[in-house]
Amino acid sequence: MTIKWYPGHMSKALEKIADLIKRVDVVIEVLDARLPMSSSNHQLENLRRTKPWIKVLNKHDLADPAITKAWVRVFEQQAGVRALPMSSKQHAETKQLIKLCQLLAPKRGKPGFPVRVMVVGIPNVGKSTLINTLAGRSMAKVGDKPAITTTTQQIDLRNGVVLSDTPGVLWPDMADQEGAYRLAATGAIGANAMDCTTVGFFAGEFMMRRYPEMLKKRYKLETLPDNPTELVESIGRCLGCLVAGGGIDLHRAAEAFLRELRAGKLGRISFEEPVQAPVEPVPDEENPANRQ
Ligand code: G4P
Repeated sequence: MTIKWYPGHMSKALEKIADLIKRVDVVIEVLDARLPMSSSNHQLENLRRTKPWIKVLNKHDLADPAITKAWVRVFEQQAGVRALPMSSKQHAETKQLIKLCQLLAPKRGKPGFPVRVMVVGIPNVGKSTLINTLAGRSMAKVGDKPAITTTTQQIDLRNGVVLSDTPGVLWPDMADQEGAYRLAATGAIGANAMDCTTVGFFAGEFMMRRYPEMLKKRYKLETLPDNPTELVESIGRCLGCLVAGGGIDLHRAAEAFLRELRAGKLGRISFEEPVQAPVEPVPDEENPANRQ
């Protein structure tokens, strides 16, 4: 099944972001640390120009720490981009983000001239959670159903920083279906726009290939089954997702598996690793091989 999800409010939201971005000093793009590539909206990147840009690799607590570190290194090589791994539920971790915003807009942050920061990202990456933690109170709706926030609002943090909250925006075509399935596996796609069983098989296949030991441990499997369908069956058996007569309810099993995976019950996993960045050629004059 092809995954496509572009609720009507998203194109309007993108227009609003395009307008608002002209009047902010710093943009915080919230990414899911488990899939920093697929959770980045290139439409947002295209609006960037030279604006200071912070990529927050959120849900760091759910991602493979070594891989997140590698992503930070890759992002920090991009001009004007800073990257921070974060668990936005942790107040202590979010403090450094405010400091970084202030650092990136040194001319602002004075009385009457707050640092104007916009928070953007796709649905369900933790934008509202981050805003609430930064504000120290509940300002934005948090939920496991993606696309809960549909309007923009401004929040004065009373520390010289004003945040603009924006709705999660995806892109209309979803040409990269691998990426779309990764998004679905982590919960960024509305439940009505995907077939949960197929997404469960996709996630099962990935886990068998990349994190087999986690599957064995969590579902008490001595050996891994031959294919994702059998895996989801085994998971269903372990979690008691049965139909009358003792068969496995595959749909319920896939749902339960995805719920556990998303909540980090199997362990910290990353769906995407950075591809090896091409080695930049050293300019002739700096190349020791060319020195006399
Ligand atoms: P959004 O505004 O970008 O759409 O995302 P939102 O803040 O609503 O967060 C979506 C889900 O992700 C929520 O789950 C939230 O608690 C969870 N979340 C956000 N940041 C983090 C993080 O750093 N680590 C982890 N582990 N989870 C995070 P939910 O199921 O609604 O959770 P809860 O509200 O029951 O906790």
